[in-house]
Amino acid sequence: MPKTGTVAILPGDGIGPEVTEQAIRVIEKLNSDYSAGLECKIAPVGGAAYDQHGHPLPPETLEIAKSSDAILLGAVGGPKWESIEREHRPERALLSLRSELKLFSNLRPAILFPELADASTLKPEVVSGLDIMIVRELTGGIYFGQPRGIKTEEDQTRTGFNTMVYNESEIKRIAHSAFKVAQARDKRVCSVDKANVMEVSELWREVVTVVSSEYPDVQLSHMYIDNACMQLVRAPKQFDVIVTTNLFGDILSDAASMLTGSIGMLPSASLDENNKGMYEPVHGSAPDIAGQGIANPLATILSVAMMMRTTFENIDAADRIEKAVQQVLADGLRTSDIAGEGSAPISTSQMGEAICEKL
Ligand code: IPM
Ligand code: MG
Repeated sequence: MPKTGTVAILPGDGIGPEVTEQAIRVIEKLNSDYSAGLECKIAPVGGAAYDQHGHPLPPETLEIAKSSDAILLGAVGGPKWESIEREHRPERALLSLRSELKLFSNLRPAILFPELADASTLKPEVVSGLDIMIVRELTGGIYFGQPRGIKTEEDQTRTGFNTMVYNESEIKRIAHSAFKVAQARDKRVCSVDKANVMEVSELWREVVTVVSSEYPDVQLSHMYIDNACMQLVRAPKQFDVIVTTNLFGDILSDAASMLTGSIGMLPSASLDENNKGMYEPVHGSAPDIAGQGIANPLATILSVAMMMRTTFENIDAADRIEKAVQQVLADGLRTSDIAGEGSAPISTSQMGEAICEKL
């Protein structure tokens, strides 16, 4: 039985509000035509929240996020807030939401829709049929490790430092996450680390290997991060599931996104132990095109599909959304980021409209 519940909608900055508006239309359509039973609660986050309330993650927003069953986030950040003190920057809201809600498992699929094979900068034969899942650890590692800071020595030279740290239980839970994801796919996990240089990676590799014995149906391999970057652009289809640390996953997932032609197409899920999740497009706030009504809302709409499947266990709704996206692309509808030369791009709201019609 699909679950019903509340969704906290945090539009954020830049193109965030434009793309989440289209996602809300999709949710409303699912409610009216398929009785999805979702209640949306909109709350400010990021730079927009800082401007209104003096904090990128106001307590009311955090409360709404905590009490909802799922969160749909647009994007945060922009040049306007780049020079304010670090703890008030929009990105802080994102990091706090991840750690406050214990969203340790970040799933970032990189799927190439056949209709968009030409949109990738890589040769079509290298990327056609691509279907990778990056499982990124999201609440630990160098993003959160202590000690961190910038200190001034007696002679006034300054030293900046961060710490990459993982304990065994953090590694175990993300490894379980990855193996479970792989069981529902092609049953192959590649764990990416830097065990030839760093002790933290040595432990990572050891613990992932131990956990793998509980998943005899899944094949485990290991790769160093530098080689993984090379392999990802050389022969990306060799991968099924990639599991890695917070920092390496951040970098690899941006690289993987370009294999698919447009970062405007990629959804993501950040999950806690009970599959409560925050869903967001992989793209950022794209301040250069914000307010023009030309942003691609498909990554956010596909994030709704991931939300329906994972948090609300509504497979039917998830399938419907993904099918609608495929059909709209097959009809030749494109926002400007994925429109090839010579085809006239449609607007953000026209794309939202087209998806709702297919639904
Ligand atoms: C991402 C982003 C964030 C990250 C930034 C905005 C803090 O790049 O979600 O990949 O580094 O995790
Ligand atoms: Mg990133």
